[in-house]
This record gives sequence, structure tokens and C-alpha cells, in this order.
Amino acid sequence: MAREFTKVGVIGLGTMGAGIVEVFARNGIEVVAVEVDEPAVAVGRGHLEQSTGRAVSRGKMTPEAQADLLGRVTFTASLDDLGGCELVVEAVPEKLELKKEIFAKVDAIVGPDAILATNTSSLPVTEIAVATSNPKRVVGMHFFNPAPVLQFVEVVRTVVTEDEVFEDVKTLAQRLGKQPVVVGDKAGFIANALLFGYLNHAVSMFESRYASREDIDAAMRLGCGYPMGPLALMDLIGLDTAYEILDTMYKQGRDRLHAPTPIIKQMVSAGLKGRKSGRGFYTYAAPGSSEVV
Ligand code: 3HC
Repeated sequence: MAREFTKVGVIGLGTMGAGIVEVFARNGIEVVAVEVDEPAVAVGRGHLEQSTGRAVSRGKMTPEAQADLLGRVTFTASLDDLGGCELVVEAVPEKLELKKEIFAKVDAIVGPDAILATNTSSLPVTEIAVATSNPKRVVGMHFFNPAPVLQFVEVVRTVVTEDEVFEDVKTLAQRLGKQPVVVGDKAGFIANALLFGYLNHAVSMFESRYASREDIDAAMRLGCGYPMGPLALMDLIGLDTAYEILDTMYKQGRDRLHAPTPIIKQMVSAGLKGRKSGRGFYTYAAPGSSEVV
């Protein structure tokens, strides 16, 4: 019998974390949503209100259903509130030391049966797992952005992940309306390993002024039928996140394809992180908005 999962925790309420909170809460699961301090909690709550508010304004969700959904989420700045959670999904920035530190802390807070999952896109799940007292209960649970929309989850199994833990997470992903796939612990797993070389190449085309951002994006949208062009997608993912992913993949695999195109780091340093900051390759109506101005 697969576990029920009635209460879960999510750590980190950035683009991915807030989306993951929404996925759980939409499916009737209580969520403890943790950020580092109160201002960050407020930003995270704002992401969730904005995303569900859009569903209400499009007539896809009633205001009552939105209120119920938000009522299932407890926002907090304290990891200690994760105490009764049966699963905790970590979605903090892609920094190995930070993730290890959080896993070590959460390990001591949750019960011995709780599953600990990381939403990392490229860092070694095994290294994160060994920061805990029981690496057998650690898996990767990698969602795609926007998490409430995209129906795919990579469940990462390390050499020590217990079969039952891993099967329970797969079953949960199905219950959330996602198609889970099983992958080993290799940087980028399946999707990012294929995607990021392409995105990096598109940025390098833009950097060398070979073609305009609009034309690069149109080529892939209109010429290849992709839902969005690579530069618009970089803005959606966030240039800071994309940089970290490329850098990790490059360090692990030494494939030139993943050597981050210099302009990505320059844009991140200048605060041009994509949609989340209101400007990346494109400029948006406001931070977090998808409306290009
Ligand atoms: N959050 C929540 N819901 C969102 C959303 C968001 N950020 N953006 C769009 N949506 C919802 C809309 O509300 C709408 O819902 P509805 O059909 O119920 O009304 C639906 O998605 C479609 O949105 P739109 O009509 O506004 O626009 P599109 O049809 O163009 O779809 C898109 C937008 C879903 C973002 C689509 O363009 C797409 O799938 N793009 C590709 C995204 C992609 O490749 N993601 C993977 C990135 S890599 C990754 O995540 C890995 C990580 O490790 C970095």
C-alpha cells in the first residue's frame, strides 16, 4: 500500500517552490511552506496568490476554491514547523552547501519515516543525501517550470534510496497528475541534460549578434513548434538558476556545450534575472509578470 501523504513541507518559495506548493495544495494536501525570513515568506505567499488569482480571473478556479487552497498552506520562517510532515521537498537555490545544511537540519526535525526530497536540477542527490543520518529516505523530485502546468516529474534514485521510498514518491507524483520517470543521479537528469545545451547555444547566438532575440525565439516557436523560444524560456527559468545549472553540468561533464555563455553571468550580476526581476532578455510589465513590454 502506497503512503497517503496528507501533510508535506516545501522549503524555498521562489519560482519553483511556490509552484510546487500550489501543486500539492491543489490536490488537497496540507502544506507547510518555509522561507528563510518573513519578507521572503511574504514574497512566496505573493507568488501563490498571483498564480491562483490568475486561475480565478480566467474562470478556471472559483474564489472559494482559491480560498480553500490557500487555507491548506501554512507559511512560516521556521524549519521547526516541518515537524509533522510525511514528505519535505526542498527547492532552495542551486547551492550544494546550502542544500546539505538544510537537509541536515530537517533530518533532525521530521520523524524517522518522513521522506526528504530535493528539487535540484543538477546537483548530486547522493551528496545531499549523505548529509542526513538516513540517506535511504532521500530522493530527487524534480518538477518543471511552471510546476502547476507541466505534467512531468523526474524521480531521482540514488544508489542507496530505499525501494519503498522511491515507489511512494512515484505514486504521489501520479496522484498530483504528473507523469513520473525514474532517473539515476547524473547532472541534468534527462530533460535538463538535453535542454540546457540548446538554451546555452541560443544565448551564444544572441551574444554574438548573429540574430535578434525575437528571431531566435521565432525560429524555435514558429519553425519548430516549441511552446516558447529559448530566450523567453531562459527568462522564465531565471538566468541565475540557468547559470547555476549550466555551471554544475559543465563542471561535472566538461562538455563545452554546457560552458555558460559569458553574457548569462553578466546579466545576473546586473540584476537581469528574467521574469522574476522584471527584465532578462526581454522586459516585463512588472517582476513576476509574463507580459513583455
Ligand atoms: N504558473 C502557473 N500557471 C501558469 C504559469 C505560471 N508561471 N504560466 C502559465 N500558466 C498557466 C496559465 O494560467 C494557463 O492555464 P489555463 O490553461 O488553465 O488557463 C496555461 O498555463 C497556459 O498559459 P498561457 O495560455 O498563458 O500561455 P501558453 O499556452 O503559452 O503556456 C507555458 C505557457 C505553459 C509557460 C508554455 O509556454 C510552456 O510550456 N513553455 C515551455 C516551458 C518549459 O519548457 N519549461 C521547462 C523549463 S526547464 C525546467 O523547469 C527545469 C528546471 O530545473 C529549471
